[in-house]
Formats: sequence, C-alpha cells, structure tokens
Amino acid sequence: MARIATFDEHAEQYDAWFDRHREIYLAELAAVRELIPVGGKGVEIGIGTGRFAGPLGIPVGVEPSPRMAELARRHGLLVFEATAEALPFSDGEFDFVLMVTVICFLDDVELALREAHRVLRPEGALVIGFIDRESALGRQYRLKKDRSLFYRDAAFYSVQDVESMLSRAGFSDFEYRQTLFRDSSSGLSVEEGHGRGSFVVVRGSKHLGAP
Ligand SMILES: C[S@@+](CC[C@H](N)C(=O)[O-])C[C@H]1O[C@@H](n2cnc3c(N)ncnc32)[C@H](O)[C@@H]1O
Repeated sequence: MARIATFDEHAEQYDAWFDRHREIYLAELAAVRELIPVGGKGVEIGIGTGRFAGPLGIPVGVEPSPRMAELARRHGLLVFEATAEALPFSDGEFDFVLMVTVICFLDDVELALREAHRVLRPEGALVIGFIDRESALGRQYRLKKDRSLFYRDAAFYSVQDVESMLSRAGFSDFEYRQTLFRDSSSGLSVEEGHGRGSFVVVRGSKHLGAP
C-alpha cells in the first residue's frame, strides 16, 4: 500500500512548504538541475505537486495521491496516477527518470529502481534526490519523526544504501551533488560529492544489458 494518505489529505500544506522555505527549495532545485541531462524525454516519479518537474521542464509524472496529482496538473503537467513500483510505461521509453524525496516513502525501493531501469533506454539516466540518513538533517528527521506530519512514515537511507540498491538494479557511473550544509557560509551552495550536505542527488546510468 503506497504511503500517500498524509500527502493526499494535506496536499496544499505540503505545497505551501516550498514558499515558506524558498531558499532551501531553490538550493535543492539547483542541485537536481546540475545532474539532469540536457534535452531528451524525462519523467518524474512521485511528482508531488510538480515543484521540481515544472521548473526543470519535465512535462510528465507519476503520482499515486489524487490530490497531489491534481495540484501538479494545475501547473500544466501530465500526471499518471500510479506507483513507482508499477510504472504505466513501455520498456525503454525515457532518456531520464527523476525521483525527489520519494524513495523514503516507497514500499519496495528495489522494485521501483528496477521499474525505473526498465522504462529507461540503454545508457539512460536515473536521478535521485534524497535526505542522507547520516547527515545532520537526516539525524534530526529521525529523532523527530514521530512528531512530523509528512515524515512519520518515512524510511531514510544513507548514500551507501542508495548506491548499493542502484548497483543491484543495474545502474553504474555514479555522480553526486550535495547541498544544505551545516556551515552557514556555504549552507545553500551546491557542491560535487556527498558526505557533508544533508540533501544529496545521485545520477546513475543504465548498464547496457543489465541486470
Ligand atoms: C515528499 S513528497 C515529494 C514530492 C515531489 N517529488 C517533491 O519533491 O515535491 C513524496 C511523494 O511521493 C509520493 N509517493 C508515495 N508513495 C509512492 C509510490 N509508491 N510511488 C510513487 N510515489 C509515491 C507521495 O504521494 C508524495 O507525493
């Protein structure tokens, strides 16, 4: 059962977070943008209200919460009501797939990554943005989880967890960006690599002939 009830009931409240925390949102958007391929056909899985797909020019998404999907459609996005674990697309349809702060809500991450692999063309890219479980924010979220409306049901992963799952699903050639640093001078900048920023973006390429 997809973890969507809270998002469905509080879709407007979820969407309003981006206006109240505009600088954090823009830092995350900038980090994702650095690893999104230029051109090509893309899809965002767990598109939410379209806060990433819209500005990134990704016209298509998948979203199991009808209310979140409805808000995304208001931004002119084409949204399929489905889950990451059962994508409504043919094999090899896309040049890239994006998931932002979604893997922590999936019932079966490994199945979702295999689905992303299936719908990508050979050497297509999967881009995943997530809160690193071992980062400052990751630790904070885990400590306050029970009191968080949206993150109560989340399962956070470390960079190593995500890279291992991506490798098993048939991805390689990993590239990283990070932002949301504790240090206030570079706090919202975007840097290569991982290990210091709380929000991490990884891009992996679909192996030829794998898995
Ligand atoms: C934290 S929100 C992120 C939304 C959007 N990507 C963003 O960054 O604003 C998580 C989203 O994942 C969706 N979701 C939950 N389970 C899912 C599943 N199994 N497959 C696809 N999306 C799912 C939720 O409905 C919600 O819209």
